[in-house]
Amino acid sequence: MSHSAELAGKAVLVTGAAGCIGAWVVKQLHELGATPVVFDIAENRERLQLIMPDAESVIWELGDITDFERLTEVAETHNIDAIIHLAALQVPFCKADPISSTRINVMGSIHMLELARQRGITRLSYASSVAAPAMGDNDWLATLYGAHKICGEQMAAVYSHDWGVPSIGIRPAIIYGPGRDQGMSAAPTIALMAAEVGEAYTIPFTGDVGFVYVEDAAERFIAAASRSFDGAYVFDLNGTPATVTKMLALLNNHYPDAAIEATGDPMPFPAEANSGELEQLIGLPDCRPLEAGIAATVLGFQAAKARGVDLAGMYQHTLGKTP
Ligand SMILES: NC(=O)c1ccc[n+]([C@@H]2O[C@H](COP(=O)([O-])OP(=O)(O)OC[C@H]3O[C@@H](n4cnc5c(N)ncnc54)[C@H](O)[C@@H]3O)[C@@H](O)[C@H]2O)c1
Repeated sequence: MSHSAELAGKAVLVTGAAGCIGAWVVKQLHELGATPVVFDIAENRERLQLIMPDAESVIWELGDITDFERLTEVAETHNIDAIIHLAALQVPFCKADPISSTRINVMGSIHMLELARQRGITRLSYASSVAAPAMGDNDWLATLYGAHKICGEQMAAVYSHDWGVPSIGIRPAIIYGPGRDQGMSAAPTIALMAAEVGEAYTIPFTGDVGFVYVEDAAERFIAAASRSFDGAYVFDLNGTPATVTKMLALLNNHYPDAAIEATGDPMPFPAEANSGELEQLIGLPDCRPLEAGIAATVLGFQAAKARGVDLAGMYQHTLGKTP
């Protein structure tokens, strides 16, 4: 059994909550009876509107993760009990702007840890990435983003050792599902969106991928922040390993006439089997199979359209997002 219900009635700071995983974290916290407090540099409720009806009611604090005073002010105002730290720039954005991205990804991480230390917050989860182990001894693609994520993990270990600040870092593989619209691995979700709005699209990579449905990821970040664990943990979240070819076959089951294909080199972060260690610690079953995640994505897009969301417009906007 997951311990997430222990967050009911508590205020949870969710950084980067205008983003894909953050939007799902906010939705789930809301359903659990917790109070999510969004902290994001953008006042953009588009992803929340895509997945929940009452997005306007969510507490939204605009702020930059590199501004520690602002973070402290927000934590004080809302009497924050737990932190889920997701704000970051992803691979292409880091490549496009190495200095700003290092400020956001590395300083952002130390600010979260320091906020927890100063305020005695002992429920803390944060996003690392499958790009972090790529910085080790393997053939995976080394990226500045991966270096930032490794740095965050190392800083979390020191905060636990020196000051007793516990944390759980989660390294998701490829997140997919409604709201996943930017970053180098967003293409499978963009392909599903294209099929739903009747557009042609090409996924720019092939090969084996670890697919993690976004709702499963959100559930894990919440469960990991719901209790004070002892130490600084880091877990892989590999989801469901599958080829891009299989993903396309599943897409075609829903959209037999879709003009979607895949081309290019294999994804530079190959799929690994799920070890289940994270699930054991936080008491959750395995991530859902890819079939179920794709079906949920299709349903999610259709439900959003039925609520009046302009999915075709959102699709066009999505195409311009990643540099
Ligand atoms: N999406 C994936 O496949 C994936 C895989 C592994 C790890 N992750 C990690 O999970 C986390 C969430 O990913 P996502 O896909 O939801 O990302 P996203 O790009 O959709 O959202 C990131 C959010 O961070 C916010 N942000 C950026 N700079 C900020 C700043 N200076 N101050 C405050 N907010 C700022 C953005 O406005 C955005 O809302 C990130 O840390 C990411 O690195 C994602």
